[in-house]
Amino acid sequence: MKYFIVTYGCQMNVHESEKIAAILEDLGYIEGKTREEADIIVFNTCAIREGAEDRLLGNVGNLKKLKKRNKNLIIAVCGCMTQKAQTAKKLMDTFPFIDIVLGTFNLPQLGEFIKKVRNGRQLEILQEGDIDEFLPYKRTSGDNAWVNIMQGCNNFCTYCIVPYVKGREKSRKEENILNEIKSIIAEKKYKKITLLGQNVNSYGKDLEPPVTFSKLLKDICELDGDFVLSFMTSHPKDLTDDVIDIIAQEDKIEKYIHLPAQSGNDRILQLMNRKYTREKYLSIIEKIREKIPNCRITSDFIVGFPSETENEFQDTYSLVEKVRFDSIFAFMYSPREGTAASKMDGQISEDVKHERVNKLLLLEKRIQEEDNKR
Ligand code: SAH
Ligand code: SF4
Ligand code: F3S
Repeated sequence: MKYFIVTYGCQMNVHESEKIAAILEDLGYIEGKTREEADIIVFNTCAIREGAEDRLLGNVGNLKKLKKRNKNLIIAVCGCMTQKAQTAKKLMDTFPFIDIVLGTFNLPQLGEFIKKVRNGRQLEILQEGDIDEFLPYKRTSGDNAWVNIMQGCNNFCTYCIVPYVKGREKSRKEENILNEIKSIIAEKKYKKITLLGQNVNSYGKDLEPPVTFSKLLKDICELDGDFVLSFMTSHPKDLTDDVIDIIAQEDKIEKYIHLPAQSGNDRILQLMNRKYTREKYLSIIEKIREKIPNCRITSDFIVGFPSETENEFQDTYSLVEKVRFDSIFAFMYSPREGTAASKMDGQISEDVKHERVNKLLLLEKRIQEEDNKR
């Protein structure tokens, strides 16, 4: 019996798929190379932008043929998209050949639902769940080992669906993270360890007693072994000096920070609920460059946020020009149902969003070419 997993979305989802693989292998499945030869196909979905959801819908639609050919094929859909009850129900109604739909907090029970599927189609969406500290992973990212340090997000940036589908921030106990990393080091298969969280800089605030992210980094670096330590994603409002200092001091930490700015305009940043200003963002960049001269810095931007004017977009453009990031991701704002921004006045046309995203990407290309020449 073979399995095939299709993963959408961020690195956290890539890592969750490693958990799905472990669950399936525990049931006796082995990894298949194609969908055609699979006995179970699991879609681990993403809801961050409409495009991600559309791709999933297209891909699931194509499975009807496979299901006709192999009556025993099990099709399961899980991840951020299914956590929205309405979407989950719509998936079940539109695609009668989907067997299992599970929300993000139900993932640990995937095995049980696969066993139950003989009795009929399964749909379950838990509203909140504890962070699972000990589920095994089948690591699939070469010499990089992902390590989840927290789940969820408390920030409620007004455009973002993540807090609604991943719940509130919950940190893993430091001891459990250190033990997982010790066993990764002991396996001697991994050169790099990448810590994952939507907002790693607020790691540990919810623990009793609280632990800071910089302490976690320091304690990991003190473990014996040869490895490069990396992490993502940092939120500018929480990136404290002690974290910058520890990156500068510790040889084991990769000199790299992904620091999403989202916009270079203060009014838009405020509407986004990002809790920092352009000036504050630039001062953090300055601090990083001063203390870690060779640090790579990358960022994310959203263009066409509701009511963004051409002048306000120019502030984003000039920020990118000023900072000269090593690379950027530029996204067209995508309204997500249930978020505050989707109800704001002044939604921007797709044409204007395209224009702005292209301008940013051209600028990025120019900067990279200039830097390469140098
Ligand atoms: N937790 C991370 C980001 C997670 S989502 C952080 O706070 O930085 C990754 C990126 O997707 C975000 O940085 C943002 O640029 C983009 N994004 C999120 N919601 C979006 C939306 N509704 N439309 C367009 N881009 C979005
Ligand atoms: Fe979304 Fe903001 Fe949380 Fe990042 S910090 S996951 S953008 S709400
Ligand atoms: Fe990641 Fe997409 Fe979920 S970006 S957290 S998989 S909505």
